[in-house]
Amino acid sequence: MSDNIESHLSENRIFKPSKEFSKNARIKSMAQYKRMHKESIEKPGVFWAREAKELTWQKKWTKALDWKPPYAKWFVGGKLNVCENCVDRHLTNGRANKAAIIWEGEPGESRTLTYRQLHREVCQFANVLLAQGIKPKDRVLIYMPMVPEAVIAMLACARIGAVHSVVFGGFSAESIVDRLSDCKAKAVITADGGYRRGGVVPLKANVDEALKKYKSVETVIVHQRIGDKIPMKRGRDVYWHEEAARVSTKHVAKAFDSEHPLFILYTSGSTGKPKGILHTAGGYLTGTYSTCKYIFDMQDDDVYWCTADVGWVTGHSYIAYGPLSNGVTQVMYEGAPNHPDFGRFWDIVEKYGVTIFYTAPTAIRAFIKAGDQFPDSRDLSSLRLLGTVGEPINPEAWMWYHEKIGGGRCPIVDTWWQTETGAIMISPLPGCTPTKPGTATLPFFGVDAAILDETGEECAPNEGGKLVIRKPWPSMLRSIYGDKKRYRDTYWNDYKGMYTAGDGARTDRQGNFWIVGRLDDVLNVSGHRLGTAEVESALVEHKAVAESAVVGRPHEIKGQGVVAFVTVKGNIKTSEALAKELRNHVGKVIGAIAKPDEIYFTPSLPKTRSGKIMRRLLKELVATGEVSGNITTLEDYSVIADLQKNLKK
Ligand code: WT7
Repeated sequence: MSDNIESHLSENRIFKPSKEFSKNARIKSMAQYKRMHKESIEKPGVFWAREAKELTWQKKWTKALDWKPPYAKWFVGGKLNVCENCVDRHLTNGRANKAAIIWEGEPGESRTLTYRQLHREVCQFANVLLAQGIKPKDRVLIYMPMVPEAVIAMLACARIGAVHSVVFGGFSAESIVDRLSDCKAKAVITADGGYRRGGVVPLKANVDEALKKYKSVETVIVHQRIGDKIPMKRGRDVYWHEEAARVSTKHVAKAFDSEHPLFILYTSGSTGKPKGILHTAGGYLTGTYSTCKYIFDMQDDDVYWCTADVGWVTGHSYIAYGPLSNGVTQVMYEGAPNHPDFGRFWDIVEKYGVTIFYTAPTAIRAFIKAGDQFPDSRDLSSLRLLGTVGEPINPEAWMWYHEKIGGGRCPIVDTWWQTETGAIMISPLPGCTPTKPGTATLPFFGVDAAILDETGEECAPNEGGKLVIRKPWPSMLRSIYGDKKRYRDTYWNDYKGMYTAGDGARTDRQGNFWIVGRLDDVLNVSGHRLGTAEVESALVEHKAVAESAVVGRPHEIKGQGVVAFVTVKGNIKTSEALAKELRNHVGKVIGAIAKPDEIYFTPSLPKTRSGKIMRRLLKELVATGEVSGNITTLEDYSVIADLQKNLKK
């Protein structure tokens, strides 16, 4: 960790929000932030009850928090409908004819849904789900392109109390199988395809392949995005538009318990099996609502755009539930940032007058590399606030974002959070927090973050340790679906009663949090979590592979790249062609994001005498070409020497 800590220590540039920004922002001064943060930590029930009261509850709760570590219940006894809060609520508060979603397809077409239109679509699709026999708590897998129907499908599930599990459209058929069988989904909602980089992603074909292996899905509802003729299995597959035509556009939202399950979202951990992170209705909605309000400072005339995919948690919290519960207007874009060229995002900002823009450091680095001519030739003056998420942002990228995209006038909110936390946990508040390039700064309301050493003592400023959250918060995960033991072991075992994030971090003298990166065997590739064990297990599934070890290496654009060391079976000959085949194999098993950037064949892997692969050495080797530190536990030093030669070639 020490290298990162050193490089961060030299960062002394401080940026304060302008007086004008602060004047109009919800939180206007550090004194106000401190006062509210203090209250939120000392009296979480009081603080969060006030936030939750801004939402619509069909029945009020009796107790704000019930905390029996590691299980929290928020707004106990309360009943609400999450979808009603995101949609119906705005029909009576003056926003009925306001644009909810302004969508742009990759080929260039555009579509606007007002809150009234969104309501009609969601009600109708809720009726389609009901007609297909979907009941409260049934799991529904959603595998969609970035079209409004993806959000409509999520909201319709929430509306009838079904639990959605969105799978990113870039994941493979086999990834769908794993998730279907873990959550035992009854239905799948997909599309005939989606546009990406000029091509068509064959979503329905992937679903068909997955359903050859997982046979318990009763219904597949297919949204027609492309319009090509595709195979439809009789008795199982139906078209969205045909079913919608048969049902009413009216639906009254019933209330569900505050702790009713809302969704399961799979994320990588340190084993080969992804974890189904479970979120529930009332607390999650309160957390995403409140963070949008304070961190993105959403105002009624904002045009907000988050560039994430709905397949990741960012798309759940900051495309679907947070922005819509705030009644904001948002832009949604289907395709790639570089289609037809790297000016696409800036065209969209100019065309729709985007005011708040939320993206990932990996995208920013790709834009820097593409050249300043793209943003320079567009009018970005509508922007007033910028955000980043997914990984630590390097100071160069921060400065470029600040100057080139923000014109030097927009505060940047570097937001730290996780699939598990549901909502942003550490971030500047744009109207008050002094920012420095590279730090997510200070904990949000209700977040009791700390950095602890191995003994559980709080680290001194600039001393690296483990990032923990010491108190429950409304949008926290409730469990790993179907695996309470893994939930306790993964998150609650390091320090009694505290949540361990799995990230290394330090604070500076002003109390700013600097996130260093994952402490487990999880990589962060383009802002997305990827378990090295998942890639390893995909590799050893291939008939040529005997053993493999996967590590990350710093990557200019992606943050981390994937490097695989592979030992082949006795009679197999290694070749460039085999390396290519293995890369494609990983793409097929997991998805393109997991394809190794480099594959090294090696007769053996460095191991301890007890047979454990020493990934630490491999990691060092790919980063620096050398290994240092303690190698006395290594069984056979010549393995390292051979690898060193191999890597130099
Ligand atoms: C991991 C969570 C939260 C939505 C996207 C990723 C890293 C996330 C930041 C940030 C430094 C960050 C952490 C975290 N991370 N945001 N602003 N600064 N690191 O969600 O897939 O659940 O991954 O992403 O390592 O643990 P995720």
